[in-house]
Amino acid sequence: MIPFNKPYMTGKELWYIAQAHAQGHLAGDGSFTKLCNRWIEQRTGAEHGLLTHSCTAALEMCALLADLAPGDEVIMPSYTFVSTANAFVLRGAVPVFVDVRGDTFNLDERLVEAAITNRTRAIVPVHYAGVGCEMDAITAIARRHGLLVIEDAAQAVMSTYRGRPLGSIGDLAAISFHETKNIISGEGGALLVNNPAFAQRAEIIREKGTNRSQFFRGQVDKYTWVDVGSSYLPGEIIAAFLWAQMEEVDAITRRRLAMWHTYHQWFDEPERAGKLRRPIVPAHCVHNAHMYYVLLPDLARRSAVIERLKALGVHSVFHYVPLHSSPAGLKYGRAAADLPVTDDVGDRLLRLPMWVGMEDEQTKIIHAVLQAL
Ligand SMILES: Cc1ncc(COP(=O)(O)O)c(C=O)c1O
Repeated sequence: MIPFNKPYMTGKELWYIAQAHAQGHLAGDGSFTKLCNRWIEQRTGAEHGLLTHSCTAALEMCALLADLAPGDEVIMPSYTFVSTANAFVLRGAVPVFVDVRGDTFNLDERLVEAAITNRTRAIVPVHYAGVGCEMDAITAIARRHGLLVIEDAAQAVMSTYRGRPLGSIGDLAAISFHETKNIISGEGGALLVNNPAFAQRAEIIREKGTNRSQFFRGQVDKYTWVDVGSSYLPGEIIAAFLWAQMEEVDAITRRRLAMWHTYHQWFDEPERAGKLRRPIVPAHCVHNAHMYYVLLPDLARRSAVIERLKALGVHSVFHYVPLHSSPAGLKYGRAAADLPVTDDVGDRLLRLPMWVGMEDEQTKIIHAVLQAL
């Protein structure tokens, strides 16, 4: 069976972990964490990059930084991973779900303004499949209404929108290094702070509500409890692993893009024959080949193709079960209006294997898909 995902190791992970071990500094914010934080800042242009345990943790930090009160509303797509919503629900906020665009399956910026109420505090665009949302329109709406923009850039490391790295555009952003992402540390993520107003508080929230980071920089002579917070920073072993991946990011991205384009070329003809629809990437978005998906004619066809692929030795998967109609989504959130595109895509989208090292098996996958259609 060709797996849907297989974590890629560069070969240097254990070497860097051995260095962290030898240095004897295993808690967070040691030399590897600092290297990773600087890498994030240099590669994205974010003012501050702060490693976290996960993208989920970084989103929770965003919700804390936004200082939400119970009943405040946060606009987001329903076609996304649960953490996009959960992070805000944990603060008592209400996710208000807006439909996605029919081309990229990103938050439809044309529907955002109609969903704004006097309780709206933030807009959370999710860069689906590493393809940028329409950030110019979204940031203009946010500015007009005094809202925060928090990018869920979980899938978007190394992608750009009109030349700007994703994660560097909103007030805050969250990225993921989960083992299904392009560069990985098993579990892992980062908070990106672009609005300097949040920089100091982000450090404090990440360090259990203390000013320990300022203490280590010699800015205060003792550290103490100054705010709410939790433990959001990963240990050095995780950061050492991640550093090996960061060093190889250009080669990893190149290899993923090559596989993405191979899929795309082979599925041109089935698309013309009306058997599937391929991903659409707007000309002003450079993506990172995080994912290759196809849209099948209907739910029955998708289920049949998944079964057929399984029989042919290929593991394919679908997502997302839309949040607005999920049990927790119904309880904690609300749909701003009907979400026809979300419902439709949730039924028809199929994800194909995409992992570095899969190159030799890709022909087999493509033939299996062509046979299964
Ligand atoms: C859009 C989106 N947001 C958030 C997350 C959560 O990331 P993590 O697993 O690093 O917490 C994911 C993970 O798949 C995601 O795809």
